Amino acid sequence: MNDMITGVITDSIKLGARLHTIASLVPPGASLGDIGTDHAYLPVYLAQKGIISKAIGVDIHKGPYESARQTVSNFGFSDKIDICLGNGLAPLAKGEVDTLTIAGMGGATILDILGSNPAVMEEVSTLILQPQGAEARVRKELLSQGWQIRNECLAEEDGRVYTVISFSKFEGMSEKDIVERVEELTTNFRERTLNTGNTEININNLRKIIWQLGPLILRKKEKLLENILNDVVAKQQKVIKEMSKTDREDVKIRADGLKQEIIIMEGIRKWLFQ
Ligand SMILES: C[S@@+](CC[C@H](N)C(=O)[O-])C[C@H]1O[C@@H](n2cnc3c(N)ncnc32)[C@H](O)[C@@H]1O
Repeated sequence: MNDMITGVITDSIKLGARLHTIASLVPPGASLGDIGTDHAYLPVYLAQKGIISKAIGVDIHKGPYESARQTVSNFGFSDKIDICLGNGLAPLAKGEVDTLTIAGMGGATILDILGSNPAVMEEVSTLILQPQGAEARVRKELLSQGWQIRNECLAEEDGRVYTVISFSKFEGMSEKDIVERVEELTTNFRERTLNTGNTEININNLRKIIWQLGPLILRKKEKLLENILNDVVAKQQKVIKEMSKTDREDVKIRADGLKQEIIIMEGIRKWLFQ
């Protein structure tokens, strides 16, 4: 609905499950930097709900930048949300934001963006990230820089499951806590697998998969994890089928590695959900 006098849209903006999950992790009163804001639905939603004090949305491409400006203006938040055209954290000044959301980008790109402007990062205390791939690397690198994991969860949208991780400078699980959790999960899983008479599994592969799936997500036994496990196993089975068409030794070794990963993931599925 539009306000009759100002023309501003007064309806609540509706977010999909993925952005909704990210929004639910933004601390009240945050001054937010939404990097790769695209349509700017996230900052506009947070402004409508009164959660943020202000926001700066950044996008590197002209199309999304213009669409973000349009959304902000349509919903009447031009006084609270600035939209900038630029690369990552480049348009931000030190102290302008204390919280960053970066969603819908590869994990490596997210890490590059976070590493690109140390002055801005000095004043940021919360990160809410939704990496598309390289989740293990995102967890490991940020923990090693001193960030703590406050929460991690899954969101399903259009049949796909997304991982959302929130990091804090001041509260949550430190690198030491998470490494302990990974070792605890590794030991529990290994004992259980050996007790049920299954083949010996490679401990490093098991650790790698736990880092990728998320130690807190595994601990919470998030129901959507079962979908991720099913999807990954199905994809890897397809890859193995293709690999079986060649006699090359290196391909066979890689296929054996994938078979091990499938055994581990199926074991995790049974362990958590049966
Ligand atoms: C897939 S969209 C995700 C949009 C939104 N964050 C979401 O999750 O719905 C990725 C957006 O990030 C922008 N982007 C990619 N690399 C960027 C960078 N280095 N700096 C700023 N924006 C970037 C793209 O132009 C695009 O609009």
